[in-house]
Amino acid sequence: MPRKNPDAPSRVAVVEDEVNMRGLLARILADEGYEVSSFETAEDFLRDFSPGKFAVIVQDVRMPGMDGIEMLRSVVEKDKDVHAVVVTAYSTGETAVEAMRLGAFSYVRKPFDSEEIRRVVRMAVDRFQDQGRKGKGSFAMRHIVHDSDPMREVVDLVERVASSDATVLIVGESGTGKELVARAIHYHSPRVNAPFIPVNCGAFAESLLESELFGHVKGAFTGAEGDKKGLFEIAEGGTLFLDEISEMPMSSQVRLLRVLEERAVRPVGGTGLHPVDIRIIAATNKNIEEETREGRFRQDLFHRINVVAIQIPPLRERPGDIPVLAGHFLSVYSHRTGSGVKSIDEAALRLLMRHDWPGNVRELENAIERAVALCRSDTISVDDLPKSLVRRASKAVSTTVSLLPLEGVNLDDKLADVEASYIRRALEMTGGHATKAAEILGLSFRSLRYRMDKLGISRSDTQESEEPLDE
Ligand SMILES: Nc1ncnc2c1ncn2[C@@H]1O[C@H](COP(=O)(O)OP(=O)(O)OP(=O)(O)O)[C@@H](O)[C@H]1O
Ligand SMILES: [Mg+2]
Repeated sequence: MPRKNPDAPSRVAVVEDEVNMRGLLARILADEGYEVSSFETAEDFLRDFSPGKFAVIVQDVRMPGMDGIEMLRSVVEKDKDVHAVVVTAYSTGETAVEAMRLGAFSYVRKPFDSEEIRRVVRMAVDRFQDQGRKGKGSFAMRHIVHDSDPMREVVDLVERVASSDATVLIVGESGTGKELVARAIHYHSPRVNAPFIPVNCGAFAESLLESELFGHVKGAFTGAEGDKKGLFEIAEGGTLFLDEISEMPMSSQVRLLRVLEERAVRPVGGTGLHPVDIRIIAATNKNIEEETREGRFRQDLFHRINVVAIQIPPLRERPGDIPVLAGHFLSVYSHRTGSGVKSIDEAALRLLMRHDWPGNVRELENAIERAVALCRSDTISVDDLPKSLVRRASKAVSTTVSLLPLEGVNLDDKLADVEASYIRRALEMTGGHATKAAEILGLSFRSLRYRMDKLGISRSDTQESEEPLDE
């Protein structure tokens, strides 16, 4: 429920039991031009609260009586548009994670500086107004192409986490878009004008990784001819993306943990500490909790980086994204190569949607790039897709066998049903192209025709004109 008058000052609620802190927050926000209402307890706030009344709530977590998390839960139930900024004193990250999961917009740690509060609240208010103007989703990340509920959740979390400085752990299979998401977070964060530096933790030998990350001083080891800045210093003010973090050797993990705790780096061979101001985003395609349980990854480091976790589901669990992704890559590659390919026909699209995509979005991207190169008309068809994909997708058709009922079955009838459903599927997948359907089923064209007649599958399901059944 957006505010009635868009020019009126935005209403911000401050819910904080500690009187000095409450006063401070109220003053900072009133100076920013917001209409501020202060509340001492969650109960007081909830009595006054109604959906649409506030753009933003700045709230404490630890309060006598109802705590901030419980309050947030009850608020988001009633008002989906309100943006909560949670102020928390606890460094374990647990409450922050819980708040973000409940739908908080962002969080700020105590002690905070007033500039940080101003910035986060300004972002929250902007976002609130943006929603009011254009409806939800207007802030959607343009580059994360998606159309499925699981990805909508991911994008939503990305948006919310971007404005904070929280350390983020992105988990997902290879090719699901982990780096893309990391970049989206950076580009939507206040650090956007500072560098985004990706580093593949698995790509360096142990000693090299440390000098790469933390830098080294002249003479630290053979070949260290001068001082060298590490990526931590190079990323100053920006975001360091620690890709494949689970591949990091144990000894480097210890040093990384120290850097994250001290917010300062000590170059290899050096003694001085250089303070650094960077945000860390880490990614892994492994089950890092299992790695931790089995002693291959340090537990303390895991907790340090796992402040906000973003799980990117594999593509096979979100087939709804396939048409928009395919369309996106089609236009990218068609444009890049100057080919006139404009669309994907229905049969090809069905096949794309049925494939299980072990290589996820990257595999889809490659398939479309290849199809654009091969395509001789302006429409991609099954012919332009990799053969392996055609075969795999047909295998993915379920072969479950139901339990044998007590009264028995008529096996011939059952088998006929199975046969008919496979044939129909194959025809569907190939857009009625009987020769291709036969190929998928491992049959000759004649044998397919014979079976279709026997099972009463109409020939009108096939594209007779293109592939006459009577040769
Ligand atoms: N939702 C998406 N929208 C548009 N492009 C995407 C999307 N997801 C992934 N891609 C593209 O797919 C390719 C693979 O993505 P990315 O490199 O981010 O995956 P990754 O999870 O880091 O993979 P890996 O584990 O192999 O490093 C990139 O070209 C990326 O731009
Ligand atoms: Mg990657």
